[in-house]
Amino acid sequence: MEDMNLLESEIMAQIAGASDLKHLDDVRVAVLGKKGVLTEKMKTLGQMEEHLRIETAKKLNTLKNKIEEAFGAKKSALEDAALNTRLQEEKIDVTLPVRPEVQGRIHPVSKIFEEVFAIFGALGFEVAEGPDIEDQFHNFNALNMPLNHPARQMQDTFYIASKQSEPFDMESAYVARTHTSGIQIRTMENKKPPIRIIAPGRTYRSDMDATHTPMFHQVEGLVVDKTTTFAELKGCLSDFVKAFFELDNIPVRYRPSYFPFTEPSAEMDIGCLKTKTELKIGAGDDWLEILGCGMVHPNVLRAGGIDPDEYQGFAFGVGIDRLAMLKYGIPDLRTFFESDLRWLKHYGFAPLDFSSLTGGLNGNGGSLR
Ligand code: DAH
Repeated sequence: MEDMNLLESEIMAQIAGASDLKHLDDVRVAVLGKKGVLTEKMKTLGQMEEHLRIETAKKLNTLKNKIEEAFGAKKSALEDAALNTRLQEEKIDVTLPVRPEVQGRIHPVSKIFEEVFAIFGALGFEVAEGPDIEDQFHNFNALNMPLNHPARQMQDTFYIASKQSEPFDMESAYVARTHTSGIQIRTMENKKPPIRIIAPGRTYRSDMDATHTPMFHQVEGLVVDKTTTFAELKGCLSDFVKAFFELDNIPVRYRPSYFPFTEPSAEMDIGCLKTKTELKIGAGDDWLEILGCGMVHPNVLRAGGIDPDEYQGFAFGVGIDRLAMLKYGIPDLRTFFESDLRWLKHYGFAPLDFSSLTGGLNGNGGSLR
């Protein structure tokens, strides 16, 4: 009995004295492990006469329970303490200023997206999104491009089998969306006019040279209402290019073009000056193609569940990467996606330079460019 009390206080003192989790585990092994003191004591029970055995076994079990409880309590206390120390050590002072020499950079593509959102946001547009892997209804059919329509060949499409297990079936295959125009349909399916959205996103075509990459970025625009006109389209896009290139005046012209989903369709050019070494936007006798646009084709409105006798709309599609190349003078599109840190350091933007129409598209001073 005496012996048992002494053992208990010794063990309890060892548990209390454990300074960390490793130390505590060593104590546990020395007490409760295969050759631990308590385990050894248990082993002696077999040689005792029955009366003494029953009594000693009871006491040993009570002691064991007490010790296990003490181990549990000490373990959570040590774990709490370890967490607190870690939290203390890893404390971050969010009020400290940014250290320019260690900060990351915003990719020019992300920057252009921000600028486009700022401009169209101010013009009352909402942002809509759609999936990168699109069905052919949204990417083609609903956009007035039924199967075998020649315009489908204009875009070098990546097809994705709808069922991997079966032979490839062209009609049910999905596509890596070739443009963001499918979001026009998705928006009309889910929203009643008036509609005023821009739809940003990645797009994919099997193409690769200095101005084409298999993955690139577009922003789609769609406005649908009862009285939406081509004049509105012109005003809206003209405002956009002026704000985007940060110029008070940019000559703009619309050339007739063809897109299956718009009628009439146009391509918008902006005035510029091209010399051997320089491209200057907004002045000179040259023209630069900037985007495709037009009045939404009645078949497209119908496919989106909107009555073309009641509503009309305009749409446009802009290549984001091309805008980045033009605005920031980046010559080769392929370099955008090489993940070269030196490139990103050179062409990237400081993360806290937010784009806004009032604060400046290039951020509040843009001193870290
Ligand atoms: N989807 C076209 C493309 O990828 C771009 C485009 C042109 C979108 C005219 C439009 C539009 O909405 O009206 O080439």
